[in-house]
Formats: sequence, C-alpha cells, structure tokens
Amino acid sequence: MVKICCIGAGYVGGPTMAVIALHCPSIEVVVVDISVTRISAWNSDQLPIYEPGLNEVVKQCKGRNLFFSTDIEKHVSEADIIFVSVNTPTKTRGLGAGKAADLTYWESAARMIADVSKSNKIVVEKSTVPVKTAEAIERILTHNSKGIKYQILSNPEFLAEGTAIQDLFKPDRVLIGGRETPDGLKAIQALKDVYAHWVPEDRIITTNLWSAELSKLAANAFLAQRISSVNAMSALCEATGADVSQVSHAVGKDSRIGPKFLNASVGFGGSCFQKDILNLVYICECNGLAEVANYWKQVIKVNDYQKNRFVNRVVSSMFNTVSGKKIGIMGFAFKKDTGDTRETPAIDVCKGLLGDKARLSIYDPQVTADQIQRDLTMNKFDWDHPIHLQPMSPTGVKQVSIAWDAYEASKDAHALCILTEWDEFKTLDYRRIFDNMQKPAFVFDGRNVVNVEMLRDIGFIVYSIGKPLDPWLKNMPAVA
Ligand SMILES: NC(=O)c1ccc[n+]([C@@H]2O[C@H](COP(=O)([O-])OP(=O)(O)OC[C@H]3O[C@@H](n4cnc5c(N)ncnc54)[C@H](O)[C@@H]3O)[C@@H](O)[C@H]2O)c1
Repeated sequence: MVKICCIGAGYVGGPTMAVIALHCPSIEVVVVDISVTRISAWNSDQLPIYEPGLNEVVKQCKGRNLFFSTDIEKHVSEADIIFVSVNTPTKTRGLGAGKAADLTYWESAARMIADVSKSNKIVVEKSTVPVKTAEAIERILTHNSKGIKYQILSNPEFLAEGTAIQDLFKPDRVLIGGRETPDGLKAIQALKDVYAHWVPEDRIITTNLWSAELSKLAANAFLAQRISSVNAMSALCEATGADVSQVSHAVGKDSRIGPKFLNASVGFGGSCFQKDILNLVYICECNGLAEVANYWKQVIKVNDYQKNRFVNRVVSSMFNTVSGKKIGIMGFAFKKDTGDTRETPAIDVCKGLLGDKARLSIYDPQVTADQIQRDLTMNKFDWDHPIHLQPMSPTGVKQVSIAWDAYEASKDAHALCILTEWDEFKTLDYRRIFDNMQKPAFVFDGRNVVNVEMLRDIGFIVYSIGKPLDPWLKNMPAVA
C-alpha cells in the first residue's frame, strides 16, 4: 500500500489530503501537524476550518484511509510520498523583511524529514514557495541523506477557499514540476498516478521544477491584478457616472478577457495574494528587475488605495466624522463561504473606522468573536504563523462588539458597511433594519450585493462601489 504523509493540516493540507483519500482508497493518507488543537479538531466532529462539502468528504474516509496525527516523525518515516503544506509567511525582520517568504517552517520540516527517514522519499512542495526553493530543500535533504534518495517535486495548490472541494474534485489543472532526470521523471509519474485516480490525464501538466514554482506565484499575481484593475476602474466610474458592473460585463464579453474575477469590491484579501506578490516583487528585485518589481507592486498599492478610499467615503459621507457613532459591520471573512480572515479587507476598514473613533458592531456567520478581536489587535503578518505561535490578544478592542446577527449589528447604528458578500446579506429585511437605525441611515456596500434602488426607496443613503453616486454623496469626494 502506498503511504502518503502530509505535513501541515491547514486550509490546504486538510482538504487536499481528504480528497486524495476519498478518490484513492488503496492509499493510506496521514495528515500531521505540530498544532495539537488543530489535529484534535480534525479528529472531532467540529473540523477546524469551514469549507462547503468538506465535512462529507472527511466523514467518508476518516478512519478508513485518512488519519490525522501529531506523531509527525513516525508517519514521515513510514511514508513513500511526503507533501509539505506548512505556512510560508512574509518575513517580518531581517533580510527581505516585509517582502521575502519566511521559510523557517519549511526548513524545519525538511530537516526533520532528513533526520527521521530510513527509506527513499518523494518530497512534494505543496506550500507556495519562492522559485528555486526546491534547490535549497534538496541541499538540506541530500546533505544529511545517509544514502537515502530524495526526489523533490513542486505541486502547487490552486484551490480557492469557499470552493475548495469543488476545485479539488474538478481542478482546471494539476501542475507537477520535477527534475528532468530518469529518477525525477519516475517521481513525477508516481505523483501523476495518484491524481490520475480522478483527474483526466490532459489536465495534469508536467514541467521543470522552476516553472512549476513560478507558475503558482504568477497565477496569483495575475488573479490579484485583475481585481486591482477592476477596482481602479471603479474609482473612475464613480468620478464619471459610469457603472462598474456594466463596464465589467461589457469588458468580460471579450473572449480574450473572459467574465470571471471582474467584480469590483472593497479589495482582495486572503492568505495568498498579497504574500505571494510581495514574494514575487522580492524575487524580481533580487534578480535586478526593478521595473518588473514595480509593476507588480502597483497591484498591492491599488488594493490598499481601494480600502482607504472606502473608509474615506464612509467618514466623509457622515459629515466628516464617525466619532462615537455605531457602525454595523456586515461580514468579516475575506470572502463568502469561508471563516478565514487572513488579510481580509475588513481588518483595514475596521481599523480605519476605529482610527476615527467609531463604535463597531461586527457580524459574520462564520467568524468567532475571539478571531475578530485577535485580528484587530495583531501586528501585520503575525497571522501567518501557526496558531499556537501567534500572540494572544490580552484585551479586546473596547469600541468593538460582536453581534449574533445582522439585525443586532444594525440596531441603533448610523451606518452599515457590507464587507463580505455572504448570500444572506442580499435577502435581509432592510425595511426592518432601516426602522431600527439612526437617521439619516447609510449603507456602504463594499461588495455590491444589495439592490441599490430598493434600499434608496426605503430611505437609505446608499454607496455601492463603482456605481453612480447617491445625490447625497456627490459633493463629498473621497480621495484616499
Ligand atoms: N489557503 C489557501 O487558499 C492556499 C491556496 C493555495 C496555496 N496555499 C499555500 O499553502 C501553504 C499552506 O497554507 P494554509 O492556508 O494551509 O496554511 P495554514 O496556516 O492553514 O496551515 C499550515 C499548517 O502547517 C502547520 N505547520 C507549520 N510548521 C510545521 C511543521 N514544521 N511541522 C508540522 N506542521 C507544521 C501549522 O501548524 C498549520 O496548521 C502556504 O504556503 C500557502 O501559501 C494556500
């Protein structure tokens, strides 16, 4: 029986391995992690992450050929194929701080593999890593090899949170990079054989190691760049009376451009886009490519601009002050159908409003009060370290309360800010909400989910990103 061990039981390791186990009953899959709480949660009925469809998949194979364990060394030493899916945060100090990837967790995983292995291994990079990481990993492993042979493969993960199970069941492509030597090609084939249990052969792409590593960074940079492009356009739409949804629709009809990923919003978030672009920028700089680095830097700058612009809109619309005013925050996760808050634009928007002394009442159907308080008190990039290594938030932010539902969050509020596109925000009883709010009652829709006309008919003053401005807002330009 082929044995797979995955180091890192997070948003990528957990779902990816569950889907492999489901489709490959003849393979034993063990997911290991240094976090005892995370592994206990995987072994309970309350999984540590929320992802539609994940529960059902895990239920079918947990205890059959899918296991979660903290006994890392045992399972690594027994495995034929080792996936490494650990955090690769942005460095916060030293060389490349604020840009380069921190490979501390990766390196310690590699050293541990070298220490405990007694048989040949295929080591698969599942984490997103800088191009050429495989070379460093190879050096660590072969330097301590005791005659054991290692083959390093790059198999970056392209799943999107919120649709992870769907993406893993029917991936657009599976990418496998490896050495172009007889042993390298054999390792590529072994990993191909795993995916071939359910992925059609023409969707499995093989490349050299460096192309695979760089393709992941490139794909995330292209995706984020599309969002920053449409968000930049949204500012121009507001200035000119154009409607960004109509512009996106018209632009997306061009088959060379395509309709996906063209929704204007308060900004992109998530654990990957910013981190991976910063990493790309750093690699470009290290290779003397200043113009290329600056080009990609702009994608992040526009994203920061969009979040600031939103905060300025809120404050300037409400007579230039939100001091002491209650603002209901609808949604905190970085997108719908996930409880993940890493780099969510809600953090920057909330911090901006708190900076102007607002009182916030935050509601999100999947994010806990503790997580929200941690996010609002944590230093930049601290979130991307294993949970047990993150600083605890000793005291919560006083001006922040957490609400059980949208109605509680909006009660007596002066304004609502919609920051996540949860479906339930489309069908709220906005008449009831309006009746319970202070007047004038404002809605700032950062995700373009509400029916603007309907809300204006009720009496709300509505701001919707990139849409023709409410007459109220016309003389209150929000310049970031
Ligand atoms: N989240 C996504 O949507 C996504 C998508 C594609 C790729 N990625 C990439 O995948 C990687 C993992 O991302 P994630 O979202 O799953 O992160 P995560 O923080 O959810 O999970 C990583 C896990 O690794 C564990 N870990 C760290 N060092 C370890 C060690 N030495 N031994 C054992 N366990 C260790 C941590 O405790 C944590 O549980 C990152 O490189 C990320 O960029 C993420």
